[in-house]
Amino acid sequence: MEDKRLSGIPELDEWAREAYAQSECELGYPGNQDIQLGDFFEWYSANGLDRVCLNNAGDPFSSAASRMSSHRFEREVLEYFAPFYGFAPNSFWGLVSSCGTDGNNHGIYFGASYLRGRTGREPVFYVSEEAHYSNMRLAHLQNLEVRLVACDAMGRMQPEALAECLTPERPCLIVYAMGSTFKGAIDDQAALNAVLARHPRMEVYRHVDAALFGGYLAFSQYADIVSQQKQGFQSIAVSGHKFFGTGNPAGLFLTTRDIYDAQDHFRIAYVNQDMKMINCSRSAFNPLKFYWLIKHIGTEAWQAQAYTLLQNTAYLCRRLEELAYPYWVNELSNTVFFKRPSDKVVEKYHLACGYDERFGGALSHIVVMQHATREAIDTFLDDLHCM
Ligand SMILES: Cc1ncc(COP(=O)(O)O)c(C=O)c1O
Repeated sequence: MEDKRLSGIPELDEWAREAYAQSECELGYPGNQDIQLGDFFEWYSANGLDRVCLNNAGDPFSSAASRMSSHRFEREVLEYFAPFYGFAPNSFWGLVSSCGTDGNNHGIYFGASYLRGRTGREPVFYVSEEAHYSNMRLAHLQNLEVRLVACDAMGRMQPEALAECLTPERPCLIVYAMGSTFKGAIDDQAALNAVLARHPRMEVYRHVDAALFGGYLAFSQYADIVSQQKQGFQSIAVSGHKFFGTGNPAGLFLTTRDIYDAQDHFRIAYVNQDMKMINCSRSAFNPLKFYWLIKHIGTEAWQAQAYTLLQNTAYLCRRLEELAYPYWVNELSNTVFFKRPSDKVVEKYHLACGYDERFGGALSHIVVMQHATREAIDTFLDDLHCM
């Protein structure tokens, strides 16, 4: 590295070298490590934006945008993505969130407020026991009564388990996992909706936690599964740093206009807006990155990446099969779980680990993101064999 790129703080430079070197072995977690934002960072500082404070406080769809916000590009980002998630034009609302968890927080908050407003009753919150922990944490934070619904061995919420734990006299706020954290299971929306439909008087709000899978599925031939109009959910959260490659935590939260309109009014004079979202200050940087990626990568490249990612997942499974190495994978999932390898392999590839007696005990998984090329997979498998 050239001297002018060094910080003058040895610890920082050492850390930067190590983090960069690790990125290509980073197979256990769903961050996309193939980031294409070099020109964006140059543009950003060349235009002096690294010397000012930008802030997207407020509603991206309000006309009261500050000149120091990137609201106008945030709106364009949401207008670009909304059709990929099956929202009808002009009948959605959303924001560029700070991460998938922030999107889930909005989904759960909007859902609980909507159901209270319609029924005057406290909703019960349902989520599968294998869904991402942020959903349980957020429900606790929002003081909701939580029912963890049992899953089948592959991690899908069991419709009959949902049927058994439902309290139909109270409104139902349900999160569908897409997918579950460790096994990459996709909750079967049609089967679960059919269970909910047995109680036609029960008010229901469905939020889809599609932090990881929502990225690639929306750009694949399986996009119907994340379509609001096809599936009938009320909101969806997707991470930006996973499939879309924003390079730092970011996300999308989308809901229908009806749900947005039904939220409590909170007219805040000092920002001159009706503030329905949770956060005041929000990143102006993340919408700019998303906008840049839409313009410089865009639909066709994301479609190609989604295809390759699923092909490479199938390749990993084929190779594990040939090696007779025990592995499991859910349909449409890029997360492959397998017998836990040696500690050396776990450490080198930063593999996430789990435990499930039904699969022989100790397990690890790989999330096949853009940087998990066939070459990277081959190298991993060589190490699996000999480390
Ligand atoms: C299904 C699911 N939900 C939520 C999250 C949390 O998203 P974030 O890390 O963007 O907050 C993750 C992260 O891996 C996830 O896979």
